Amino acid sequence: MFWSRVLMSHPRCSEVLLFLLSVVQLSAGLKCICHLCVNHTCETEAEGACWNSVMLINGKEEAVRSCLSPSELKGQVFCHSSKNVSKRSCCFTDFCNNETLHLHQETRPEESGWTQLELAAVILVPLCLVCVGAIVGVFALQNLRCTQMKAPKPDLEKSLNDQALVSPNKSLKDLICDMSTSGSGSGLPLLVQRTIARTIVLQESIGKGRFGEVWRGRWRGEDVAVKIFSSRDERSWFREAEIYQTIMLRHDNILGFIAADNKDNGSWTQLWLVSEYHEHGSLFDYLNRYTVSVEGMVIMALSIASGIAHLHMEIIGTQGKPAIAHRDIKSKNILVKKNGTAVIADLGLAVKHDSNSNIIDIPINNRVGTKRYMAPEILDDSVNLSTFESFKRADIYSLSLVFWELARRCSVQGVYEDFQLPYYDQVQSDPSVEDMRKVVCEQKIRPDIPNQWQSCEALRVMGKIMRECWHANPAARLTALRVKKTISQVTVIKDVKE
Ligand SMILES: Nc1ncnc2c1ncn2[C@@H]1O[C@H](COP(=O)(O)OP(=O)(O)OP(=O)(O)O)[C@@H](O)[C@H]1O
Ligand SMILES: [Mg+2]
Repeated sequence: MFWSRVLMSHPRCSEVLLFLLSVVQLSAGLKCICHLCVNHTCETEAEGACWNSVMLINGKEEAVRSCLSPSELKGQVFCHSSKNVSKRSCCFTDFCNNETLHLHQETRPEESGWTQLELAAVILVPLCLVCVGAIVGVFALQNLRCTQMKAPKPDLEKSLNDQALVSPNKSLKDLICDMSTSGSGSGLPLLVQRTIARTIVLQESIGKGRFGEVWRGRWRGEDVAVKIFSSRDERSWFREAEIYQTIMLRHDNILGFIAADNKDNGSWTQLWLVSEYHEHGSLFDYLNRYTVSVEGMVIMALSIASGIAHLHMEIIGTQGKPAIAHRDIKSKNILVKKNGTAVIADLGLAVKHDSNSNIIDIPINNRVGTKRYMAPEILDDSVNLSTFESFKRADIYSLSLVFWELARRCSVQGVYEDFQLPYYDQVQSDPSVEDMRKVVCEQKIRPDIPNQWQSCEALRVMGKIMRECWHANPAARLTALRVKKTISQVTVIKDVKE
């Protein structure tokens, strides 16, 4: 009772105590309230923090709470408030972000009842003790984080201004660039993501997949793609957002993720995934409409292989990335950029591999890949799910079928094939696993490689890559890196010839 009165009457004292508590808790992970998480709970890594924020959106205070990773904490943008625009706080005990923040907190009249002398005695003595304890604790731990918390203020204030983060003259590219250079390398802060998502104006529906509808939207004069999931598919939405925000995933040949947001309109929740918009649409759409030149095919194939090689590659280090297998590679999940290269999209089925613990984080949703593109070992259930290589090898099989679709549309002296899906001549549309298993595993049929491909060097190499990638034995298939290298040598040969 005495202490609670002391703490209430002197907030600095409680701050110091909380700080001490936080120092003790730093070494373990924390449980925090999380708005964008399944079960509304998340757990931080060691030295992470719980995050609480509130900002004005359409005149209403909107709160976002979640976990912060140590690198996000280091970036410091997360823990700082800016005048009138947003209030954020980071704290370091389990579920400490469960309090409701307000932008304009009323200042409560101080509870009185103490004489000035009593107050001074009651506050100063324990305060001094606690401060001495805090200083000793801080020095003894020599904790790196503490040093960061004391980083020079003026710089902080500059970089932490929300208005700068979403200032009117910032384009999407600026925002993404800011965050990948100064932040965690994994994406925009949730608050910024939410602000962007809520100021997008939807324009037209551009496609429908198994999980919701894709729209073209406008944000500050730029086109963005918005994939809208229904609340029934929350797990798919969450998984896709989670994978896209994997640290260091950004790459020229991976779809640029911008924001995830869950909007509750009272009766249902709309789940948004905002990404860069590519007006050509999917490779499937593109090849249906256009043929490609030999050079165009090589550039396209090289960019697809580069995207998959980046996904598959593990980067070791604090700013590293886990190896990721896509598990749903097909021409509809690859988008074509204006410059004729491609990006890999639709990461909702992907699996990540932690090589330290050798753990594969199989997604908790029950979505399966597209049957037509499934590798033989998946069709006949002989795949070894305990090794991560299996998932990468299955991706490579699907990649070979995409290459086949692409190579057919390569026009050499005006000669090209019509667009077809792989096994178009073997199964009907929407084949079952059993239909596919009979063709691919039992009869060991693979797409036909036309004779005329032998007379064009690039097509001959592409044909050879396909054969090596759709091999019945997964271990005999090429790796994505090998595919990428082989195709890049085709470009070199071509360049030399010219
Ligand atoms: N970022 C984007 N830019 C432009 N068009 C897009 C973008 N994302 C998706 N699309 C278009 O929307 C369509 C639907 O995409 P979606 O991923 O929902 O379904 P799908 O890939 O066709 O099928 P599936 O559900 O089997 O993956 C795509 O085929 C593509 O034409
Ligand atoms: Mg798709």
